[in-house]
Amino acid sequence: MKALVLNSINQPLDYQEVEKSNSVKKNIWVDLHFSALNHRDLWITKGQYAGIKFPTILGSDGAGILNDREVIINPSLNWGRDERFQGPDYGILGLPANGTFAEQVLVPAVNVHPKPEHLTLEQAAALPLAGITAWRVLFSRCRLKKGERVLVSGIGGGVALLVLQFALAAGCEVWVTSGSDEKMERARSMGAKGGANYRQDGWHKELLKTSGGFDVVIDSAAGEQFALLAGLCNPGGRLGIYGGTTGKINGLSPQIVFWKQISIHGSTMGSNRDFAQMLRFVAQHRIVPVVDRVFDLVDGNAALAHMEAGAQFGKIVLKNR
Ligand SMILES: NC(=O)c1ccc[n+]([C@@H]2O[C@H](COP(=O)([O-])OP(=O)(O)OC[C@H]3O[C@@H](n4cnc5c(N)ncnc54)[C@H](OP(=O)(O)O)[C@@H]3O)[C@@H](O)[C@H]2O)c1
Repeated sequence: MKALVLNSINQPLDYQEVEKSNSVKKNIWVDLHFSALNHRDLWITKGQYAGIKFPTILGSDGAGILNDREVIINPSLNWGRDERFQGPDYGILGLPANGTFAEQVLVPAVNVHPKPEHLTLEQAAALPLAGITAWRVLFSRCRLKKGERVLVSGIGGGVALLVLQFALAAGCEVWVTSGSDEKMERARSMGAKGGANYRQDGWHKELLKTSGGFDVVIDSAAGEQFALLAGLCNPGGRLGIYGGTTGKINGLSPQIVFWKQISIHGSTMGSNRDFAQMLRFVAQHRIVPVVDRVFDLVDGNAALAHMEAGAQFGKIVLKNR
């Protein structure tokens, strides 16, 4: 089969013929029609990820056909028995296990789910990793409730956009931040109440004034601006964090955290239960992930460059066959 293979870091992925490995018990081959990129794939190609090995077929998101049925794959492998956190055997599809940037993928049968009927295979491929991450951080970790006010940082991101869509569907008022006014406008057209450009001085003060503060804040940037997000929380607020795009958190005021009784919830992807609940919610509310652009599998390196440029709004999808 054809696949995009990581053979070294800081080099383009190789589009090459790969021999299919032997099937393992309880694992099945799925014919992939579409896959999608996550920031994780970019970090790996740059060597900025733990446990890199060569050769590896990257890619965590995929949708395709199994026994004439349209299916979607949960990329969270072997979550373990405790819903509260992943166990020692936990892994993510696309490193160390070979992933979805290929014509076929071998996955545990329990990770294959029927595709939500209202989605095309292309849209479905944009859902798994971002969807499970958004679901868990919002509902399993931050326990979002109807009517709460939510802030989502960096709305151009694949996960961030699904957080926006899920929170709106749950009956919440949602605000966003972005480094791009255009992306903020697009978020508004999807239902966001307002927002702030995090590149502008004093953005957080203005946002606090116009919004009135937030019950739940969801972030994946961390870095210098995380401390400002804590300042935007209402008393009893929950701050969910699932990424660290801009690095270490500095300057977080302990007084703000303890005096406002703020909870900080770390969150990573999710369990099979999270995935199944997320699919039900998406089907019930007919949520459609935003697809920014579709590239052919053979053009996977151009797709990664597009992600690195950061101009995307939503998921970057690959057409696998
Ligand atoms: N732990 C997990 O399970 C998990 C799962 C998925 C992703 N992640 C992590 O979460 C991050 C986002 O992943 P993704 O796949 O959604 O990425 P993505 O689609 O490539 O989006 C990245 C987004 O980060 C935003 N951003 C950049 N600098 C920012 C800043 N200073 N403040 C706020 N936002 C900023 C940008 O938003 P604007 O363009 O709107 O400014 C950009 O669109 C990555 O670090 C990734 O590794 C973790």
